[in-house]
Amino acid sequence: MGKKILCMGSVNIDLVMYMERMPRPGETVVTDNFATFPGGKGGNQAAAAAALGGETAFFTKLGDDGFSRELTDALKERNVDMDHVIYLPGETAGVAMIRVDADGQNAISFTNGANGKLTPEDIQKHQELFGEFDILLITMEIPANTVYEAIRTAKAKGLTVILDPAPAPEGGIPSEIAKMVDFVKPNETEAEGLTGIRVETMADAKDCMKALRKAGFGTPIITLGEKGALAWDGKADYAVEGMQVESVDSTAAGDIFLGAFAASLSQGKSLPDCLEFAKTAAALSTTKKGAQSSIPAAEEVCKYL
Ligand code: RIB
Repeated sequence: MGKKILCMGSVNIDLVMYMERMPRPGETVVTDNFATFPGGKGGNQAAAAAALGGETAFFTKLGDDGFSRELTDALKERNVDMDHVIYLPGETAGVAMIRVDADGQNAISFTNGANGKLTPEDIQKHQELFGEFDILLITMEIPANTVYEAIRTAKAKGLTVILDPAPAPEGGIPSEIAKMVDFVKPNETEAEGLTGIRVETMADAKDCMKALRKAGFGTPIITLGEKGALAWDGKADYAVEGMQVESVDSTAAGDIFLGAFAASLSQGKSLPDCLEFAKTAAALSTTKKGAQSSIPAAEEVCKYL
């Protein structure tokens, strides 16, 4: 049996407009192409981990509005165990406004709703829950102190910690916390936010990984969009090449990468195998619209491996 994954992070409803190009400041761009999707970095990672073979549960706060119900149903449909979610009367789910241009690139703004109400005290109150799992897969868009308390709790209970520092917190991640993180997966922008190193070439990405290791993180994995990803476990570096696909929407590709990575890790796969599986799932997800709606089936990913 595989290892059990506990996911934390935001669960949002995504309001998405597809348009020829992004508006400039002060400009209005009109489109008749609008859709809503279940999203949120945490929700997307959990949905991907569960859909791609991981035994997955979610811990967060949601509201009692229609969006919260819709998001719960979507995650349950993917086989994510939602029994530990705390539902707050009178609160709403997070909402993300997303614009996607003709090249499939996106820009996101987000209001956190109930995601912002999960506190370090909630973690302490539910610390026994962490003991039931083997892997903590956690991302930001919930209060940073809550993320840090969850990581402390997970480490104390012997879990493997995978952190997606998205969005990268201002001022970086405290070194006490970095030392408890087994895998950290920033994209180029987040990697620059954490290390101050601008990632434009593979050499920059390698410098960045060294800086992340020096800061205390276990294995840094830097995702480079269509160029693939790079990881370094302190002994060897592993590069996975990007995959050529017809991209229509890159929303959540990073989340799907990490959910797939966690699912693969939970099945005892090696680091290079986990990276290859994750990269393939992420690339395939960009060929479909939306966040959770774009998660490929495990069989589809395996076809390309
Ligand atoms: O990473 C993509 C996600 O970021 C979207 O689903 C949106 O909800 C925001 O959290």
